[in-house]
Amino acid sequence: MKHSEKKNADQENGSMEHIISLAKRRGFIFPGSDIYGGLSGTWDWGPLGVALKNNIKKLWWSRFVEARDDMFGVDAAILMNQKVWNATGHVANFSDPLVECTKCKKRFRADQLGSGDADVKSDAAGSGGKKCPDCGGALSEPKQFNMMFKTNIGAAQDDASVVYLRPETAQGMFVNFKNILDSLHPKLPFGMAQIGKAFRNEIAPRDFIFRTREFEQMEIEYFVHEKNWSEQFEIWRKEMHAWMLSLGLDAAKIHELDVPAEDLAHYSKKTIDFEYEFPFGKKELYGLAYRTDFDLKNHSEASRVDLSYFDEETKERFVPHVIEPTFGLDRTVLAVLCEAYCEDAMGSEVASGEKAEKTETRVFLKLPAHLAPVKVAVFPLLKNKPALVEKAREVFAEIRKVAPNAIFDDNGNIGKRYRRQDEIGTPFCVTIDFDTIEKDGTVTLRDRDTGSQKRIEISKLISEIS
Ligand code: GAP
Repeated sequence: MKHSEKKNADQENGSMEHIISLAKRRGFIFPGSDIYGGLSGTWDWGPLGVALKNNIKKLWWSRFVEARDDMFGVDAAILMNQKVWNATGHVANFSDPLVECTKCKKRFRADQLGSGDADVKSDAAGSGGKKCPDCGGALSEPKQFNMMFKTNIGAAQDDASVVYLRPETAQGMFVNFKNILDSLHPKLPFGMAQIGKAFRNEIAPRDFIFRTREFEQMEIEYFVHEKNWSEQFEIWRKEMHAWMLSLGLDAAKIHELDVPAEDLAHYSKKTIDFEYEFPFGKKELYGLAYRTDFDLKNHSEASRVDLSYFDEETKERFVPHVIEPTFGLDRTVLAVLCEAYCEDAMGSEVASGEKAEKTETRVFLKLPAHLAPVKVAVFPLLKNKPALVEKAREVFAEIRKVAPNAIFDDNGNIGKRYRRQDEIGTPFCVTIDFDTIEKDGTVTLRDRDTGSQKRIEISKLISEIS
């Protein structure tokens, strides 16, 4: 079977159960508050998960902020004045239709019952005579459930002290629009970018880290003249596509959905959802929205602060319109993991000098090297031979100079070490064995995806890995 065919077959095997199990087993992602039985809709990131997530954030930031002259990065507070969310319509509109089973009292999102589960914030859906999917009981009429988490700021517990945990990072940028104009004097079109946490009291969190109550977004608010919105929308559509390919996602698994008018968020005039074929179905990965001047106009009216822009060339003063490319970070990690997860049956490979293990299913993450949490692992063949360990430490120190995220591992036999590195997606393993110290000064370099090994001189190792 050709490698690409095998990969497709392997991916079908890559069910969510396997991916969730690997994520926990190898220290990527754990259930939130795990020792207390978990907390629904929350997940904790372990060392490998943080490393993968940080690699994605760094890639995003360098591509969309550092490499551009028209983008301004911010990191706004999560707690924001409640007036922000009144002005944007989130207090009134940021809700999902909730139905409750009259028998078992379980609660569901009405718009998700029996159909797809688009991330709509509409009030259109009803239970429509549907039955409880758990016990078959009758469902109540839908009522609107606001998804913002509410808390109080300071010692008082009155209405004036109410604050919301932000349900989107976007507003942290809109409320700083004037600060950016005044401090950096950008010319239109320009954008603001932010990576940060967002919180939503989802009625039905599910599908691992796909729909959670606490998650991270990477968002851009791109300010344009109204007459240029569709041209800029198209530019960003292509940019988002290119970004997804840079993550190693299969273009054939990415689909665009022109969101129908009745499903648009309350602030949007046009939205494209980028959907990805996850193992649990084709679901929204990212969104691209034309938010018009909705946010700046509403904040201007509510705050009485002028949020218009003056064009020095045309001498025109106007409130800019906004194109918003939004990227869920947790969903990005999930898509990258699903794309990378592979199983094959080539389990019995060893370093020279080791006995073959019996054939077993080999699980590996075919992560693009630039995203892999660990780039290279270095092993002494045996941990109880000081000469091997010393040489391996020496090689490790050299590799670390060019690949800071290299690791040294001498736990268990070599086969187990390979399994561990395969499962965390380490592209290369380097083994120091007796030939290294007694014969020719070469080491074994093993490729994660093929499992093939070759001997290479230590002096050539660094450039080969690079
Ligand atoms: N500022 C616009 C905005 O927040 P959204 O479509 O509601 O738009 C943007 O969310 C992105 O955030 C989604 O495309 C998705 O990637 C991610 N996202 C939304 N809700 C999520 C949740 N409950 N869990 C994980 N990611 C979520």
